[in-house]
Amino acid sequence: MDAKRRDVAPLLLDWYDRHRRDLPWRARAGETPDPYRVWLSEVMLQQTTVATVRPRFAAWTRRWPTFADLAAAGDEDVMAAWAGLGYYARARNLLAAARTIARDHGGRLPDSEAALRALPGFGDYTAAAVAAIAFGRRAVVVDANVERVVARLFAIREPLPSARRAIRAAAGTITPDTRAGDFAQGMMDLGSAICTPRKPRCLLCPIATACDALAAGAPEAFPVRKPKAARPHRHGTIFWLERDGAVLLVRRPDTGLLGGMRALPTGAWSDAPPGLADAPADAAWQVLDERVHHGFTHFTLDLALAVARTHHAVNTGEWWPIARLDEAGLPTLFAKAAGIVRRAER
Ligand code: ADE
Repeated sequence: MDAKRRDVAPLLLDWYDRHRRDLPWRARAGETPDPYRVWLSEVMLQQTTVATVRPRFAAWTRRWPTFADLAAAGDEDVMAAWAGLGYYARARNLLAAARTIARDHGGRLPDSEAALRALPGFGDYTAAAVAAIAFGRRAVVVDANVERVVARLFAIREPLPSARRAIRAAAGTITPDTRAGDFAQGMMDLGSAICTPRKPRCLLCPIATACDALAAGAPEAFPVRKPKAARPHRHGTIFWLERDGAVLLVRRPDTGLLGGMRALPTGAWSDAPPGLADAPADAAWQVLDERVHHGFTHFTLDLALAVARTHHAVNTGEWWPIARLDEAGLPTLFAKAAGIVRRAER
């Protein structure tokens, strides 16, 4: 290997020892990491920032401090506790994995990347991150921060997403045999504090001397990205039906967007505003001026809000006290809608 690349791991580890972020799931120097906390944090951090995860991680681990506690939790409680942390499939997998670990593995995570891969929700990233960070195994851990650091270090010209293979291979050449977990977390911290998407602080970078993108004078130009196709735009209607201080909530179908979650009723999404088709009851619906916009990975949604009161029974869902709506664990999209309705009613 090129001498400048050989220096990357020792320089980065030395920097990590001096500048590592103090994060609640990280073991302090000399302590043994808790695999449960490492795993949980990695799953939470896949779609959410460190700032958001910190308090949620604290609350979660207070409520369910071990695999066994989580394995014994009710599906509903876990899904509700996940609200605002990204795709619910992750929460379902989290629970399924905890139950498998409690039942088949004596409440302990297996410690190799290959065995971890067999558990629900463990893809390439999670298996590698947990093997390295929790168990000190050599594994190549590539998240979005690491991807950016490596693409710059090696000035990889191929655009994302097809460059992932080359980036991973390049990351493999600089991953050390020991302290692979610290190395991975050092790369993540470097990506978040120094090798930032815009205006990287190369003067402070411990591995700047090994960086080809910097040598070429254009660190910000990496990683190269293929221009994005525009996300399709969909429409829908959210129905807020009130009866005696309660609002009608339904459970969404298990498959599809926000599958299995408690929600306000909606009709199907469509290419044009669907109006009041699919309303859950005959009522004097009023459509509010304000709408809900929400971006998902593959499309954006623009939702009208229809509001009505009724005295009748309806044949779906449950009446949930409006004063306790915060406890329903509504996904962000519906929590936004509830906020709009409640402001409009004031
Ligand atoms: N992002 C994902 N996992 C992380 C970790 N262990 N430390 C810091 N940032 C992260």
